[in-house]
Amino acid sequence: PKRVRVHHLLAAKQRGERLTMLTAYDAVTARIFDEAGVDMLLVGDSIGNTMHGHATTLPVTVEDMIPAARAVAGAARRAFVVVDLPFGSYEASAQQALETGVRIMKTTGADAVKLEGGRRSAAQIRALTEAGIPVVGHLGYTPQSENLLGGPRVQGRGDNEAERISEDAMAVAEAGAVAVVLEMVPAPVAARVTEIVAIPTIGIGAGAECDGQVLVWVDMAGMGDWSPRFAKRFGEVGAALRAAAVAYVDEVRGGTFPDDEHSFLA
Ligand code: KIV
Ligand code: NA
Repeated sequence: PKRVRVHHLLAAKQRGERLTMLTAYDAVTARIFDEAGVDMLLVGDSIGNTMHGHATTLPVTVEDMIPAARAVAGAARRAFVVVDLPFGSYEASAQQALETGVRIMKTTGADAVKLEGGRRSAAQIRALTEAGIPVVGHLGYTPQSENLLGGPRVQGRGDNEAERISEDAMAVAEAGAVAVVLEMVPAPVAARVTEIVAIPTIGIGAGAECDGQVLVWVDMAGMGDWSPRFAKRFGEVGAALRAAAVAYVDEVRGGTFPDDEHSFLA
């Protein structure tokens, strides 16, 4: 399959073709999602919550992200692979962002990096872009700021807050970003942002009018007992996996596995 490259993202928006994105943190799931036709794979810092058992994304480090990014980029044949810059790895300066971005691009084979923030991150987006690293922005609810935002809450309600998100989106686009994630934003606000910026908007809890959608794969697949309201469970993979493990335990304990078919008889 032909690789999804940066210009395809803009072309999709211009043609009105919706983009699909899922998180992936390893080669096993990356291969499955890539073969399913997912356009973009996000090695999200949600790896902290979903895979490493943290309560938030704050403890995630660049050292956590690199092996995950390498596994996903190595497995993807078609999808455009985006890697999150984790909390504390880019906020201080454009130089810090550039050092982190270069390190990730050099060691993983990813196609782009993602970072949170609008106007406050414009200098970082510009520096990365000027160095040849495509950047995806992230506005609305930004989990790395969850302590300041008071937890996962819809952002951009009311005229003033909606206007702030629009201005941040324009700043992100102006700084050179190739796409922008809108998380937990009222659908009409996300629709307005989608209209006014030239780059694709990728929504999560941001309504149907975005140019694309992203979900955390464990939520999408129904891996856990709980999913956020905006994350539709498209499967019950957790229950299927539990049933497989229970069947395995039963057969080993009952002496029915391994049978002749699964043994070397000579
Ligand atoms: O880390 C992540 O999974 C994300 C998505 C929610 C956009 O940033
Ligand atoms: Na993230």
